[in-house]
Amino acid sequence: MKSIAIVTGASSGAGREFVRQLDAGIGGPISEIWVIARRQDRLDEVAASCTTPVRTFALDLTDPASFDVVSEALEAEPSANVQWLVNSAGFGKFGEFGTIGERGNAGMVRLNCLAVVEMCYRCILYMHAGSRIINMASVAALVPQPELTVYSASKRFVLDFSRALDAEMGGVGIHVTAVCPKFMDTEFLSKPGDPEAVKHMTFIGFEKPANVVGTAIRSAIRGRSMCVPSPDMKVVHVASKVLPTRFVMAAERVLGDWASRDLT
Ligand SMILES: NC(=O)c1ccc[n+]([C@@H]2O[C@H](COP(=O)([O-])OP(=O)(O)OC[C@H]3O[C@@H](n4cnc5c(N)ncnc54)[C@H](OP(=O)(O)O)[C@@H]3O)[C@@H](O)[C@H]2O)c1
Repeated sequence: MKSIAIVTGASSGAGREFVRQLDAGIGGPISEIWVIARRQDRLDEVAASCTTPVRTFALDLTDPASFDVVSEALEAEPSANVQWLVNSAGFGKFGEFGTIGERGNAGMVRLNCLAVVEMCYRCILYMHAGSRIINMASVAALVPQPELTVYSASKRFVLDFSRALDAEMGGVGIHVTAVCPKFMDTEFLSKPGDPEAVKHMTFIGFEKPANVVGTAIRSAIRGRSMCVPSPDMKVVHVASKVLPTRFVMAAERVLGDWASRDLT
């Protein structure tokens, strides 16, 4: 069987780091890595940096035709075993809902939610006991985030979808892990929308993509349905389960106001 790792969002940030660590063998032996994103030149750079053979797919995952390209490529492999599927492609726009526009708001749902469902659906047909799916959610999934409204809702979808799918597939040895990192210093924040909203939320701090990805891969190997890599966000996770949502949202607002206050 040809053991394949498929990574979306592989041209940058966490996706690129997943490719690096899977290529290094952290997730076990792999025959080929398939990398997906829109920028071909970046995918070529990623491919050149790997020792495992890499196949590049320059695809826009908000275009429904892209998933047929993936399905056709898998169909053409007589013995494909999708050992890893990592859905890392995603983006977030900060700011008031009404100011973000259709491309931003609906685009987040298309990429962060619909593309994850499509990729899982297309790839599960080629998975076997031991295969793993990692879906990048966010700590924004834990509590509704005003001024990151669609993004936080899209990541809640990823979290709930992953946990339910894990429960469905766990019986046949296929596990799905939703990863909830806090901020990472990647291209994610290069065109984020409203800078004030960004300032208001990034007070929670940043994590290193390498740590997030390593923790995510280890959690997936253990068959965990959810991974919150940062210790302080584990506390937020517990608080979000035991305290009223209204209270946690208000506390976040107060902390955000305090952290982003103008000290001049
Ligand atoms: N960075 C953070 O603070 C943070 C925190 C929590 C969760 N996350 C989540 O973690 C994941 C990875 O984010 P990151 O930090 O690595 O961001 P990033 O550096 O901006 O990477 C995003 C990746 O998605 C790809 N992408 C964007 N639009 C696409 C489209 N329409 N079709 C196909 N690929 C597309 C980009 O490649 P191309 O531009 O080449 O298409 C890029 O490879 C995302 O799901 C994000 O929501 C990020």
